[in-house]
Amino acid sequence: MIDIHCHVLPGVDDGASDLECAVQMLESAAANGIGRIICTPHSAPDMAEKINQAFSKLDPLAVSLGIRIACGVEYSYGHLHGDPKELRSLAGTSFLLLDLGCPELPPTIVELFFSLECSGLQIIIAHPERYLKSLDTCEELSRLGAFFQLNAGSILGEYGKQCRRMAEKMIENGYCHYVASDAHGRNRTFRLRECRQCLAQNFGEEFASQVLGKNQELLLNNQLPITLVPQKANRKFFCFFRKNKPL
Ligand SMILES: [Fe+2]
Repeated sequence: MIDIHCHVLPGVDDGASDLECAVQMLESAAANGIGRIICTPHSAPDMAEKINQAFSKLDPLAVSLGIRIACGVEYSYGHLHGDPKELRSLAGTSFLLLDLGCPELPPTIVELFFSLECSGLQIIIAHPERYLKSLDTCEELSRLGAFFQLNAGSILGEYGKQCRRMAEKMIENGYCHYVASDAHGRNRTFRLRECRQCLAQNFGEEFASQVLGKNQELLLNNQLPITLVPQKANRKFFCFFRKNKPL
């Protein structure tokens, strides 16, 4: 599998605290069946050099564990302004990862997306199920050309019932193009294999392999994801998580 959202670079944000922690994360990723990772530290001013240094340290260790890593950034909305050429896309593709972080769309979003699009950039919204409250907002973002990346943890109930329900609704309505880990060090880990199983059981194998593999491959080839609208979820399976994983 390919993970397109992960805070594994050591010492650059609130993810891996140091190289030892980063290596532990990579070992856990390898055990989870992940062969490629796009490292996406949170955006902050003047951090390009710090990211490059952390990447150079981690890259040979990742190779020795059988994982290929590439670089990106998880932008917050305020950090997307400025010269689009200065932005760091996912693995050098034309896709940018954006954490909107609020339930309502900012008033300047149409202009911003338009200017990014004119620069040949596409937006992937990071874990919208964690802060968006309505499918209408997903529809608006989709009309603006955005794609959606859901967190494995949201689908597995890690962030609470509301978030899991939103993830489920987004999946059922075609607003899920990628699933990623958003792993942050030792406590928030990958869980992609577990999530893949859950998705295959609830929404079918085709959907699971699209959002946890095929669309990621398309992204690395700089191609748009395929949108699948799966069948309704098997409620019994979600009930299983409710009973066995109290929130
Ligand atoms: Fe993140």
